[in-house]
Formats: sequence, structure tokens, C-alpha cells
Amino acid sequence: MKTSFQNIKGTFDILPEETVSDGTTIAGTEAWLFVESTIREVMGRFNFQEIRTPILEPTELIARGVGQLTDIVSKEMFAFERGDTHYVLRPEVTAPVMRAYLQHHLGQKGGVQKLFYIGPCFRAERPQKGRYRQFHQFGCEVIGSGDVRADAEVIALMTAIYRAFGIVDTKLRLNTLGDEQSRPRYREALRAYLAPYVNELSPTSRQRLEANPLRILDTKDEKERRLLEGAPILIEYIDEASRAQYEELKALLSDLDIRYEEDPFLVRGLDYYTRTAFELESAHVGAQSALAGGGRYDLLAQEIGSKEPVPSVGFAAGMERLFLALAAEGTPLPQPKAPDVFLVALGDEAVRWTFSEAQRLREAGLRVAYDLKGRSMKAQMREANRQNAPVTVIVGKDELASERAQVKIMASGEQVEIAIQDLIAYLKGL
Ligand code: HAM
Repeated sequence: MKTSFQNIKGTFDILPEETVSDGTTIAGTEAWLFVESTIREVMGRFNFQEIRTPILEPTELIARGVGQLTDIVSKEMFAFERGDTHYVLRPEVTAPVMRAYLQHHLGQKGGVQKLFYIGPCFRAERPQKGRYRQFHQFGCEVIGSGDVRADAEVIALMTAIYRAFGIVDTKLRLNTLGDEQSRPRYREALRAYLAPYVNELSPTSRQRLEANPLRILDTKDEKERRLLEGAPILIEYIDEASRAQYEELKALLSDLDIRYEEDPFLVRGLDYYTRTAFELESAHVGAQSALAGGGRYDLLAQEIGSKEPVPSVGFAAGMERLFLALAAEGTPLPQPKAPDVFLVALGDEAVRWTFSEAQRLREAGLRVAYDLKGRSMKAQMREANRQNAPVTVIVGKDELASERAQVKIMASGEQVEIAIQDLIAYLKGL
């Protein structure tokens, strides 16, 4: 029989203190809260509202939205059935947000919906540094706008978030995938170009050649990359309107001094994109170098049941990879909070008094700790030190009789006597 349990590989516990799990440093909860609140603050400046959708979604939504042929859907879904319902732990949040938009008729409110999210996602990938089975994404979606300024705004917001953390040594790769008419023509051209080399392709690429040849452009294999050097270029096949929009996007990014590199081989791992596609990379986070990615997905709404097209654009980013980038920068992050005061009790009467005094101080807004193990005064002081309490209030029989407490400033060792009725004012004034 099993006597102890471990978390599932590729998932991790976020503890109050920073921990190391499978060679990866996992930041503590205060650091997560700080990072999340900075993200919320920047999202707010761009006038995005937060949305929270369920972790469980219908499998069909993800299969249709993200695309049957993608790795995410074909290999990496945590999916199961109960009765007639097929559930999936969401591998991403764009399709769920679009589902919510359609379900709640958010389009009828008029205007454009600008939504952001922070939360867990699940993909059954092989775990390694920067790649987990449960990870956290933050991201945003601008739903209901085909205006290329929305594309530029999403990219500006994404870069502003990293800048807010001092992460500027990044590379923004940009491409356009054209519309749904131009892509099949390109697909054919690429297939024709690669056909004579079929035996030189990896088994994965060989499979993709039939089903989804664009994904071969994504290859990390050096030999395949060399092969692709002479391949037809997507931009030469795309429609005029997409090309014009791409030119406009580049001009808008230049207006904001956002530097980018055009990468005609950038295709994304999700099938819903049209036109704009981008990725933000860092050279400092290991092999999984994509901090964030996104693009325009004008056809997703119809793919999941909308009668009308809903032009949209967004990005999503990995929280864990943001933490890796912060660690590479050596950025200090908030540590677990210390109590404002630690109450030390001597004797039963004082222990009882401490119990309700803690409540009184807490109601006044102080963060109060005391010993919950019935230990000696020495051990209580040691515990106060361990918790980094800046001040201890020491009370025994005599102090209770005189209604005056001993207050010790831990850093200096200085000790003063304070009337208990003045304690709150004194502690708050420190
Ligand atoms: P994605 O590129 O699949 O795009 O994921 C976005 C980001 O999530 C990645 O750049 C990476 O930082 C992080 N990520 C993905 N998989 C893992 C993993 N297994 N472990 C750790 N981090 C991971 C999307 O999900 C799209 N929904 C983005 C989007 C939003 N497009 C339009 N709107």
C-alpha cells in the first residue's frame, strides 16, 4: 500500500516559501501575488477587464477551436468522460473566452470586448524546464475588432507587461499567415517543394507534410531548417488585404518604438490564426524560449458555432517562463510576510490573555502571531525570530497585574514598558 504521495510530474505546489522541485525553482505565493497584481495593473492601464472561465470545458470546444490536427488536441489533452459528457482540462484560454463571449452575447453590448485572464492550463507534454503539465497563463483577447490597431495594442500590452518587470532583452518575432484563401495555395506550394525530400524529413514532419505542412516551418531540426532555406515564402502567397494590414501593423509598432523581427517561418501551434502571428522570446529561459505568443483569429467564432464572424486578436504568456526570466535577471521578489508583532506569554494566565489580545490587535489591523504549541519563553522568542517578527510583546503575571507589557524591538534588543491600553497606538507608530 502507498504510504506517501507526491505531486504529479509536471505539476508543482506553490508554497509560501520559494521551493525547488525537479530542478526548477518555484517562486513562493507572495511572489506570485506580486507578479499577478503587476499584470492586472498593466492590463488595467490598457482598459482590459478580467474574465474567469472554468478549468473544465467541453472537449469538442477545444478540438474544434484549437484544431484536430494540432499537437495540443491530438496528443496533449487531459480529457475524460462522465456519462455522455466529454470534459477537457483547458489547454489554453482563447477558445473558452470566445465560448463565453458567444454564450453571454457579449457582442450585443456593442463595442469591442477587451478581456484578460490569469489561470492554470493543462497539457500532457513531456515535462522539462519551462514546460509543465499544469502551468499558468496570463493573456488578453480583443474580441469584435478587425482594426489592425487592436493587433498593435495587444502586442504593445504584452511588451508593456514584460517591461514593467524590467524584462527587455527579448525578441519579438512577427509574421502574417494571410487569410483562409491564400493559405491553401501556400500549403500546396510548400508540399510540392518538400515532396522530393520526403525521405530526408523526420517522421513527425513526414506526417505533417500530408496533414498540416505549415507546421514543418516550425521545425527545430537543423537539417530540415537548411532544407527550408529554399522553400516558398508565405508572404508571397497571401492576399493583398492581409499584406496591407501587415504593413500597417509594422508601421504602428514602429510608432510605439516596438522592435520586431519578421520571421516568415513563424507559424503557431494552434490552428485558429489568420493574418497576424507573433511570439516573444527570451534567450535566458532555456530551450523553451517562448515567453508569450498570439495573433489574430478571425475565424474561431464561426468554428465554434457563431453564425457571424467575430474578428479578434490576443496573446497568452506562461507565468512560469516569466518567473524564469525574472530569475535570470536576478530580480528580487517578495518573500513570505512577517508578522507585525509576536506575543510572548509566560504562564497560563498570560497564555489566556494573549489569545484574546491577539484578536484585539488583529481587529485594529495588525498582523499578529503567537505560539500555538505551549512552549517555553525561550522557544517562543526563537519562534518570533524564525518568523522575522520585528517586535515581541512579552507578558507574564506581573505585567498583567500592572497592565503594562514589555515590548522588545528585535533588531536592537531594546526593551520598553508600554501600558497595555496604549499598545495598539504604540505598535502602529513603529
Ligand atoms: P501558446 O503559444 O500555445 O498560445 O501558449 C502561450 C504561452 O503559454 C507560451 O508562449 C508559453 O509561455 C506558455 N506555455 C504553453 N505551454 C506551456 C507548458 N506546457 N508549460 C509552460 N508554459 C507553457 C496560446 O495558448 C494561445 N491561446 C495564445 C493566444 C491568445 N492567441 C490568441 N490569443
